[in-house]
Amino acid sequence: MTTKTRSSRRRPIAIGNWKMHLTVSESAAVAQRLAGLLGDPRRVEVVIAPSYTALQSVGGVLKETGLLLASQNVHWEEKGAFTGEVSATQIKDTGCRFVLIGHSERRVVFGETDEMVRRKLAAALKQGLNTVLCVGETLEQHQSGQTVAVVRDQLKKDLADLTDGPSGKIIIAYEPVWAIGTGRVATAAQISEIHEMIRGTLSEIFGPASAEAVRVLYGGSVTPDNIADLATIENLDGVLVGGASLKPDGFATIVKTLEKVKR
Ligand code: 13P
Repeated sequence: MTTKTRSSRRRPIAIGNWKMHLTVSESAAVAQRLAGLLGDPRRVEVVIAPSYTALQSVGGVLKETGLLLASQNVHWEEKGAFTGEVSATQIKDTGCRFVLIGHSERRVVFGETDEMVRRKLAAALKQGLNTVLCVGETLEQHQSGQTVAVVRDQLKKDLADLTDGPSGKIIIAYEPVWAIGTGRVATAAQISEIHEMIRGTLSEIFGPASAEAVRVLYGGSVTPDNIADLATIENLDGVLVGGASLKPDGFATIVKTLEKVKR
């Protein structure tokens, strides 16, 4: 069986991470426009991750569409005295089916450790959420040739509890920190090499059959201009998009191009 046949079994996915942008009404308007442009995109899964404050309003807009809602973060406890945190039950209650976990901005800016990421993953999976585990190396680690070691270490630590699956609910997003918001995109060769290593590591953790079902995404300065090239990367199952997902027309182009190229 060729790699092409195997990867084509996984449904492509495009996730828009709106980070700390847009008010509640702006978020609803962007979601509405995007839904109008995309209709019901059956061949590509499309997921939007607005701010916590806009989850409910965007969830309301997406309810009538084929687009899905994600949270950008989650806490590992179900409830309690954790001022400023939001639980898996609470995000699920707003209509979220997905959650981003361990985004590099959480790790680098807010000091999230692999232990925290591991606990968040477990909590989200317990609620049946689809978890998008973000991994990736910093510029310094990249320049000193540590990319493979860093990403492998993150995967092993973050997925430590989950040796028996449920891998069907896990997506991995490879986002090199130096490519995020910089306009500097990893090359096809770099992405392909790291994605292959990620699948190999998943295979060690979950076994080959479960690892094969996991979608592996790339994120970092993805735009409507570079998506056509990125989408041709054989072992790329989709993209996690920051800045370019704030513009509905541009994000719709990203989704449609992914759909076309991954056909
Ligand atoms: P940009 O697409 O703005 O580089 O952000 C990538 C990212 O961090 C998505 O989670």
